[in-house]
Amino acid sequence: MKNRSLVSIDDFSTSEMIGILDMAEKFEKQPVRKLLEGRVIATLFFEPSTRTRLSFESAINRLGGKIVGFSDAASSSVTKGETLHDTIKMVSSYSDLIVMRHPIEGSARYASEIATVPVINAGDGANQHPTQTILDLYSIRKTQGTLENLNVFMVGDLKYGRTVHSLAMAMSRWKATFNFISPEELKMPDEFKLYLDNMGLKYYEHSDFSEIISKADIIYMTRVQKERFSDPMDYEKVKNVYVLKNAMLKDTKPNMKILHPLPRVNEIHIDVDTNPKAYYFEQALNGVFTRQAILCTLLGIKL
Ligand code: CP
Repeated sequence: MKNRSLVSIDDFSTSEMIGILDMAEKFEKQPVRKLLEGRVIATLFFEPSTRTRLSFESAINRLGGKIVGFSDAASSSVTKGETLHDTIKMVSSYSDLIVMRHPIEGSARYASEIATVPVINAGDGANQHPTQTILDLYSIRKTQGTLENLNVFMVGDLKYGRTVHSLAMAMSRWKATFNFISPEELKMPDEFKLYLDNMGLKYYEHSDFSEIISKADIIYMTRVQKERFSDPMDYEKVKNVYVLKNAMLKDTKPNMKILHPLPRVNEIHIDVDTNPKAYYFEQALNGVFTRQAILCTLLGIKL
């Protein structure tokens, strides 16, 4: 897998994904291993981030690598009119791998075609977020003991939420049943439903989930992606449509877990945080171990 990019979650086969999850388990037991000594990783964040950028940087530091890059495009020569093409060409010659977040769908694929080093998609607009998906798979396997045949509820902004797009694609490998809960305006896009149709998988669409919540193994809450709306009034109409509260969880399965890629705004009430079914902060921690495993895998480094 040397010099391979990760742009779409489908860039990994099922056995490669399992290999990454198994490697991440080893990193969880012993995170400090100097496997990236002498390597330079570029982190180019053209969009804001807390978890993805900092967990990548934490992963790189624990592996003994060095980091170059920016957390704000305003501090780069993009402000002088430099194109993404030229930026990637330059950064390819300064680094051994590029981690990039960008607001435009398809930008990561474009960057991977220009770069002479592997590119990791850290989120491209409303399209995909494959490294988030690997940490979500890790979190699901760790809490459920399996990835097979789970009933996965995805709630909120399924139109613009890139994490649910790549997670639905990935979980289809393990025959998940999906319940998509969203307002009409924020339904799962047709291209991802067609993907599930082609895999022969069942999905159900709802605008409310109070009657069916007892069936969930995983409830994956998402934030309404304010930054993707062109009309602020459209955002105002849907921003608080789902708020998960502790009282709603009383009839849920004992081992059900609540995930959220974070950041959260209002969609999970803070009274859920102390419920043992809340797993979103541990989920974010799993991002360090899984990103260590992704970096090593793409650079052809074995444990
Ligand atoms: N989950 C996630 O992508 O969070 P950040 O936007 O903080 O990186």
